[in-house]
Amino acid sequence: MSEVHVHRVQAAWKKNALIDNDTYLKWYRDSIKNPDKFWAKHGKRIDWMKPFTKVKETSFTGKVAIKWFEDGRLNVSANCIDRHLKKRGDQVAIIWEGDNPYDDKKITYRELHDHVCRLANVMKKHGVRKGDRVTIYMPMIPEAAYAMLACTRIGAVHSVVFGGFSPDALAGRIVDCESTFVITADEGLRGGRTIPLKENTDKAVAIAAKNKVDVKTVLVVRRTAGKTGWQDGRDLWYHDEVRTVKAECKPEKMKAEDPLFILYTSGSTGQPKGVLHTSGGYLVYAAMTHEYVFDYHDGDIYWCTADVGWVTGHSYIVYGPLANGATTLMFEGVPNYPTASRFWEVVDKHQVNIFYTAPTAIRALMGAGDDLVKKTSRKSLRVLGSVGEPINPEAWEWYYKVVGEEKCPIVDTWWQTETGGIMITPLPGATELKAGSATRPFFGIQPQLVDSDGNVLEGATDGNLCIVDSWPGQMRTVYGDHERFVQTYFSSYKGKYFTGDGCRRDADGYYWITGRVDDVINVSGHRMGTAEVESALVAHDKVSEAAVVGYPHDVKGQGIYCYVTLMAGQTETEELRTELVKHVRSEIGPIASPDKIQFAPGLPKTRSGKIMRRILRKIAEDDFGALGDTSTLADPAVVDDLIQKRQNKK
Ligand code: PRX
Repeated sequence: MSEVHVHRVQAAWKKNALIDNDTYLKWYRDSIKNPDKFWAKHGKRIDWMKPFTKVKETSFTGKVAIKWFEDGRLNVSANCIDRHLKKRGDQVAIIWEGDNPYDDKKITYRELHDHVCRLANVMKKHGVRKGDRVTIYMPMIPEAAYAMLACTRIGAVHSVVFGGFSPDALAGRIVDCESTFVITADEGLRGGRTIPLKENTDKAVAIAAKNKVDVKTVLVVRRTAGKTGWQDGRDLWYHDEVRTVKAECKPEKMKAEDPLFILYTSGSTGQPKGVLHTSGGYLVYAAMTHEYVFDYHDGDIYWCTADVGWVTGHSYIVYGPLANGATTLMFEGVPNYPTASRFWEVVDKHQVNIFYTAPTAIRALMGAGDDLVKKTSRKSLRVLGSVGEPINPEAWEWYYKVVGEEKCPIVDTWWQTETGGIMITPLPGATELKAGSATRPFFGIQPQLVDSDGNVLEGATDGNLCIVDSWPGQMRTVYGDHERFVQTYFSSYKGKYFTGDGCRRDADGYYWITGRVDDVINVSGHRMGTAEVESALVAHDKVSEAAVVGYPHDVKGQGIYCYVTLMAGQTETEELRTELVKHVRSEIGPIASPDKIQFAPGLPKTRSGKIMRRILRKIAEDDFGALGDTSTLADPAVVDDLIQKRQNKK
């Protein structure tokens, strides 16, 4: 790619960097040549209550079994808290920045220890035992991190559900993992607006009960003191409960392969899957990637703007940074409240050194104009990161030039909920940067590009991205459905983990993620199965059929485009369009809001009845010349009608 501008590694980035290019190359070679030896060494970066003697026992064929450090014993919360107390008990562990710029607080490691122990004791007092699933439906407040860590302290398995999900979506997740203990808040606060978390929880608990899962306890953090419903005997105030217990709680000795958390994520078919991560390998990988990818040094102030409801929040707000004894910033608000300078004001206020955000936020702030950035200092910044979707070169260059003033490397980190941690990424002191490329694999990661028949493609090429061998942070199964795990990830290409992403490799061996090749779309960095939006639409009594595709969107990356066939006798009106948007929001949540709804009396189908999404995608993209062969359709005239309506922008 000769036209791509290469940003060389600056002397300043190399100066104190943990990894230079020679080290990267050597470690990478070692990690592939002898993974057992490599990971035996790096597995020791965390504290083991009983050291492991086995390292890697993994198979991507047959039943697929993935085990790392199997005979080791550890406790994740002890690694994230207790082991730091001697040296850094008074160091700030969490800086919390509220939605309101005047609202903030700092929690030291010692305070974190007390909060987590108390909450763990409250959970124990109310019957939560090792292995039980606890659902966390919280705003971005420190109690969300306490809740996650308290679960790990007693060996409970947490399932964090993003606060933007609807009662229905929350209920589905409670039911799937049969969780009978829920932690929430009265309301969330984002961009000056409240989110009725407790009210949503009440509705979700009622739906769960109809599905035979009885939530016994709802623990409620008081955030806004807004009005909430209350059910005595089930609902408990967090602040009342933590007063009744001790600030000491012995960490449970867990097996390396004991489940740590479940996180639901969308796939191309059916309901969201419960991605299951386990304790030892996940923590080693999250901590190690956090250190090397962000070139984290002791004393750095580190800020990841994600929500703890997503995997980025798990690995890079809570587990990775805290395992490394870092100061991690947790932000309750949004990038443009009170103004679009907020991110940079927070950077100055807390002297943030490492800043990690999503391309959608960068694009939105880029649109707000350079002045809003330039009026802030940002002198403290040293490393900038990007995650969640491909970053277009224009946004990359803006981030690099305007935000970082050409002084900070940008680490464009490719990974997934399933991978637990960062997989393909630059390292600040080692990797030459190309705007829009996630560059090279992290230690131990072997990407491979294959064509649709599974032939391995060499050299500079485009293909489907697979990973050929296991790494410690990999998911172990789909909760309660191992067969689905095997089918989803290991059946497309035998013996390989298939990511679902398309990718290009250039002549320098750099990887460029091109986006999903399945029916998953990426809206503002949020992953969404088109099947889920479709099933929400057809649940509406006026809809007979729906097909949903992604289309390019300036800020969101991809927008949600819905083709909707109405029941006979229904009229296509603007009101109905609005009603359908509202309906999807209430079924899934605001993140699934359709951007466009096109009424379609017919959908392009093959003679066997399969909807040809390829054609629908092209129409949504206004790419009418590239529809390909439509002669195999049951009724080719449908396509002309769809195009005509699209052109009328109806
Ligand atoms: O398509 C890829 C995209 O996000 C998907 C994973 O989504 P999720 O599990 O929600 O995790 C997001 C945060 C890790 C991937 O399959 N993706 C993630 N990071 C990048 C990316 N696409 C391009 N470049 C990235 N840096």
